[in-house]
Amino acid sequence: MRILFIGDIVGRAGRDAFCTHIPRLRDKWALDFIAVNVENAAGGFGITEAIADDIIAAGADCMTLGNHAWDQREALVFIERQTRLIRPINYPTGTAGRGANLYEARNGRRVLVMNAMGRIFMDPLDDPFAAVEREITQCPLGVGCDASIIDIHAETTSEKYAMGHFVDGRASLVVGTHTHIPTADHQILAHGTGFICDAGMTGDYDSVIGMDKEEPVRRFTRRISSGRFEPANGVATLCGVAIETNDATGLAQKIAPLRIGGRLAQAEPDFWN
Ligand SMILES: [Fe+2]
Ligand SMILES: [Fe+2]
Repeated sequence: MRILFIGDIVGRAGRDAFCTHIPRLRDKWALDFIAVNVENAAGGFGITEAIADDIIAAGADCMTLGNHAWDQREALVFIERQTRLIRPINYPTGTAGRGANLYEARNGRRVLVMNAMGRIFMDPLDDPFAAVEREITQCPLGVGCDASIIDIHAETTSEKYAMGHFVDGRASLVVGTHTHIPTADHQILAHGTGFICDAGMTGDYDSVIGMDKEEPVRRFTRRISSGRFEPANGVATLCGVAIETNDATGLAQKIAPLRIGGRLAQAEPDFWN
């Protein structure tokens, strides 16, 4: 299967990049499944139902979240009816929505997507490793699903690598989000799981991780907040990772970074052209 995972959409610039490039790429590469992190899609903070609908219309099969999941309070309500939106699986029991879901890809195969949040330098949630273990035990790769994706939304590279190795051979892709800067470590782990520490954000990189530069720089230098964080509105780079999975095993057989448009050096998979 041909799968894209796109990193955190930040604000209007990020949404524009997603909605401009994804329909074309979906056709050009005959993509089977597209997942995208949307925790910063609404003005940098959370997701609204109208924006979620636009992102689905552009081609997203599944949207994941993170620590900004509930910044727009309406998400607590519409996540209950929008099955293409999932939130971190290790929130407390009783939290709205679901942390994993099974989807039908365009080729008719089943894709399990999970969203988990790290705990180092982040909110003290339930154990993300135990939560993921429960999910993949219930729906094993190659039995309950034909491909699987884990979005590990975490601050530290170590926690993301630990998740990659923890499920190596039992998931198609472990992809890091949250830090908003793409890493150059995309690889297929020893037992066949595709991995990248951070997919990067889909936002304007003339910024401080997606936000207009002035206020973050002021806060770092003066230690006083003097305004709101606003998303930077220059042309965004669509950032993410492309994987091809093996139809028999569900494991990754090819992986490449994706960076299209905006300021970053461009990167596309060469194996689908
Ligand atoms: Fe983010
Ligand atoms: Fe985040």
